[in-house]
Amino acid sequence: MAGRGIKDRVAIVGMGCTRFGEHWDKSLEDLMVEAAYEAYASAGVEPGDIEAYWFGTCNSGFCGITLSGPLKIQYKPVTRVENFCATGTDAFRNACYAVASGAYDIVLAIGAEKLKDSGYSGLVIPHLLDDGMKPNYSAPAAFSLLAPAYFKKYGLDEKQGKEVLARIAWKNHKNGALNPRAQFRQEVSMEQILKSPIVAAPLGIMDCSGVADGAAAAVIVRAEDAHKYTDKPIYVKALSIACGPGHGSMHQDYDFTTIRETVQAARDAYQQAGVTDPRRQISMAEVHDCFTPTELVIYEDLGFSERGQAWRDVLEGVFDLGGALPVNPDGGLKSFGHPIGASGLRMLFEMFLQLRGEAGPRQIKDPVLGLTHNLGGFPWQSVASVCIVGRELG
Ligand code: COA
Repeated sequence: MAGRGIKDRVAIVGMGCTRFGEHWDKSLEDLMVEAAYEAYASAGVEPGDIEAYWFGTCNSGFCGITLSGPLKIQYKPVTRVENFCATGTDAFRNACYAVASGAYDIVLAIGAEKLKDSGYSGLVIPHLLDDGMKPNYSAPAAFSLLAPAYFKKYGLDEKQGKEVLARIAWKNHKNGALNPRAQFRQEVSMEQILKSPIVAAPLGIMDCSGVADGAAAAVIVRAEDAHKYTDKPIYVKALSIACGPGHGSMHQDYDFTTIRETVQAARDAYQQAGVTDPRRQISMAEVHDCFTPTELVIYEDLGFSERGQAWRDVLEGVFDLGGALPVNPDGGLKSFGHPIGASGLRMLFEMFLQLRGEAGPRQIKDPVLGLTHNLGGFPWQSVASVCIVGRELG
């Protein structure tokens, strides 16, 4: 059952995004201030104009004070949001609902995370509350399970399969090399990717997203007010989030070639936005490429490829910058790293630039609808969010 949604009721009128990377010289506070002030300037507003704040962080702070201090917020509402790797998108989603409800005229959604000097890595397992009986997978290990399952089901041998995965990393690094805000700004050859040291077989380092610090922010207003701030507002078409019951880990019918939460979140978002043929109607997407097989499976879960066909589409370049449906035009998690709370808003930042024709050498020709997708957890139990934005009403 899909939510009714808030199609075309709110708009993004300004955004900011720091460079992502290893910011030894900047604190979390510095990053939040940088992203927020860039967003204020982009919307042409003063800090005091903002009426309420939604602040997404997974590990870097606990409450609204983490934001209100550095931004010198004068006794206004700040809601701290945490929803695993979908944290940034969920902060944005809740901020949009507050404006759509009529409670506020103008709000800021901001996501930030400082990971590099915290010792965080995908190989360090977060402590999740359970009965102690579940196997303890690192993130690369959990997502590595998608690869052999997909290869077996669709008849790829390991060499072919690894080449498909490498092609995804190659594409994302090629895009990231064009992006001054990315952490890794170098093209990486197929050979380097295929030979990168194994982290969780068959995944090598180059199949993994990196670890980074970063922040991104959006100013949100009612759609009817948007032109007071900018000639190029971006309208919110759909916001969805799906959290699963974890049946995958208990049922033999779960075969590790899909992530059900993504399928459900996409179905909900397409219904809200009136999208019936995503492969043709969605102009571009930023998806949660935490690991290369995740991106492969996402293509099918979002309906961009038929089941069992995504690997062919990858090899044919469908998702390349110049392809029929560019995915991760900014370089993705692969080039940016994944400062958890910031990633969802970083993805929206790219959609904002692209839809306004401001993406420079990465500009996609005449995009109309952009989709972002965040995924947190494990393939068999996750939280998945999908957001669709567009440059026109209707
Ligand atoms: N992609 C591209 N390059 C990477 C990279 C990545 N994912 N990770 C590291 N590098 C590069 C570094 O820039 C560095 O290059 P340099 O030697 O030229 O400076 C080199 O590889 C080694 O970097 P280092 O920081 O020592 O890597 P690491 O071995 O500590 O970490 C991983 C590698 C894959 C373990 C780490 O990036 C990781 O944990 N990724 C997954 C994060 C994750 O699980 N997030 C949650 C997703 S749901």
